[in-house]
Amino acid sequence: MTDRSCLAIVLAAGEGVRMRSRTPKVLHTIGGRTLLDHVLGTAMAAGGADLAVVIGPDHGAVAAEAKRIAPQVSIFTQRERLGTAHAVLSARAALDKAPGDILVMFGDTPLIRVETLKQLRSALADGAAVAVLGFRPADPTGYGRLITDKNGLLAIREHKDASEAERAIGFCNGGLMALAGEHALAILARIGNQNANKEYYLTDAVAVARGMGLSAVAVETSEDDVRGINTKAQLAEAEAVLQKRLRSAAMDAGVTMVAPETVFLSSDTTFGKNVTIEPNVVFAPGVRIEDDAVIRSFSHLEGAHVGKGARVGPFARLRPGAKLGTDVHIGNFVEIKAATIEDGAKANHLAYIGDARVGAGANIGAGTITCNYDGYAKHKTDIGAGAFIGTNSSLVAPVKIGDGAYIGSGSVITQDVPGDSLALERSQQTVKQGWAKRLREERLARKKDAADAKKP
Ligand code: UD1
Ligand code: MG
Repeated sequence: MTDRSCLAIVLAAGEGVRMRSRTPKVLHTIGGRTLLDHVLGTAMAAGGADLAVVIGPDHGAVAAEAKRIAPQVSIFTQRERLGTAHAVLSARAALDKAPGDILVMFGDTPLIRVETLKQLRSALADGAAVAVLGFRPADPTGYGRLITDKNGLLAIREHKDASEAERAIGFCNGGLMALAGEHALAILARIGNQNANKEYYLTDAVAVARGMGLSAVAVETSEDDVRGINTKAQLAEAEAVLQKRLRSAAMDAGVTMVAPETVFLSSDTTFGKNVTIEPNVVFAPGVRIEDDAVIRSFSHLEGAHVGKGARVGPFARLRPGAKLGTDVHIGNFVEIKAATIEDGAKANHLAYIGDARVGAGANIGAGTITCNYDGYAKHKTDIGAGAFIGTNSSLVAPVKIGDGAYIGSGSVITQDVPGDSLALERSQQTVKQGWAKRLREERLARKKDAADAKKP
């Protein structure tokens, strides 16, 4: 790999009108991360130590997201949308530092892979002044066409400006491009706007470079790599491509998935060894699963840590701050939020555990609720190791249940319970012998009378 320095300029000044959304286009998400996060992450992984993002006016939210991802990023505003070359020149102050390689990326093209960017950079290292990404779409309509000769790439012709013969070319411009830093400003300065759109086209960098006696090449890649997003339908298509990649990577790392096409992952989901995921599971951002864990069907996990050998689901919900220790069991219709469930503890059915600690080996019965919210503030429930919480108990926080304590079924616990003691809060049971039998006979007699009265 090249040791030249690298500046990545991400163009994101577009309005994204066709998304029909109040959210700027590059702040939409796939795999739980914004499009901008994907692009900047890939740029950095390909060696882009210097980063610039070109935004439109009133795109403060885009600038803020860029800074969140990479605090070192420089933000440039393109006041008028005069074309992709004009957008690149908006980052003039970054270009002036004359970096070795310049990668021009699009904020709405998030599936570009690190390997592909590295290929572009290799082309520069091999002497090209301009390297573009070519691909062969099923339908080339609308894309710039790559015009080649025996010496490489001659020019890129935008669809609108292309002749019939040029439109017949199936090899298209993916949009992203690499420029050699030592020539970039000279090339960009020579680009004019004599074309159908009266725009300064970055694509003209190819013909300009050739005219200067420099070389330009095309690096061929897959359509998925350069898939751009303009509409919600294309956003969903990109999500599908990303999900396929994430599932394959998980399976390559040893995760067992019975029906991978029904499992939805986030870019940051991590798995240990020998993990099994049953069908229809959603991993929202921030989930870590340790070795030997089993995630059963229809579970939803977000911001959660699942310990070694733990079993989750079916139909479990782990919300942010759920931390499950080794061999914990969380069963159907159990919701865990901001709670640590220590090694070997179990909540197998129908429970809500929020803002809590459940000690090692404790057993949470069906219907247990930690009443963590009083309408104004959240309070903590602390359950000791080995405690037994009988079914249908309400634990009114703040409250502490000691180690080894036993809570009788149906209790409403409002005061701390010392370790190893029994707490029971339940009204006295009344038994009336023969009552049900008398009721049954009475009802039967009434029915017979009514039927007799109807007879003529
Ligand atoms: C571009 C290429 C085309 C290629 C296609 C691949 C040019 C001139 N054409 O066309 O050859 O086949 O991508 O998808 O580059 N942007 C700005 N400021 C501007 C104009 C654009 O920031 O003034 C940004 C957009 O937000 C977008 C990117 O640059 O992220 C590309 O612009 P877009 O209008 O989508 O170019 P295409 O017409 O798709
Ligand atoms: Mg586009």
